[in-house]
Amino acid sequence: MPKVLLASRNAGKLREFAELLPDLRWVPWPADAPELPETGAFFQDNALQKAEAARAWWREHGTEPVDGVLADDSGLCVDALWGGPGVLSARFAPDLPSYRERNARLLAMVPEDADRAARFVCVLAFAPMNGASSAVGGSVEGSLAFAPRGDGGFGYDPIFIPVGFDRTFGELPAEVKHTLSHRARACAALKARLDLS
Ligand code: IMP
Repeated sequence: MPKVLLASRNAGKLREFAELLPDLRWVPWPADAPELPETGAFFQDNALQKAEAARAWWREHGTEPVDGVLADDSGLCVDALWGGPGVLSARFAPDLPSYRERNARLLAMVPEDADRAARFVCVLAFAPMNGASSAVGGSVEGSLAFAPRGDGGFGYDPIFIPVGFDRTFGELPAEVKHTLSHRARACAALKARLDLS
């Protein structure tokens, strides 16, 4: 069973990868490891940057052998905000202490009569310990709720309603999110691209 270092400390992402790719053994990014750079303009730049920086660090400091490093760069793109917060989703409203407040601020930025179309995007970069890195992606279309709903998931899940549903990702069970989410679709593309079994 391949062992993969996840280049992220985001507990929500780690939980989802363990559920979406259960045939892999996961090593979380250690608490004392450096912050990974994400200075690119696009999800793909950041995913590759994080995967390759984590691989380089692990080569020097890793505590156990791994087969490769997976990095996820993802975010919520809102049409009424010209695609924002998009690649800056993790850095939106850093003055606010929690996603409850950040979700409320994001909704307040969208006029009530605006187009509420939005999508989640996820780009996954895999950097094998021996070999060239590559990236795949996935997205899910939907719309913004008028108020946060549900305690499930993480981040912007309580304000995103996927197309075909009337409940947010925060209200839908994880099993449902995993049938259609941006991350699930990117994981399916990753499995098709790489032999990770
Ligand atoms: P980054 O990929 O580390 O730059 O952070 C992505 C950010 O986008 C996360 O911290 C969340 O705020 C948001 N995000 C990405 N995927 C999801 C998701 O599945 N649900 C809710 N929020 C997400």
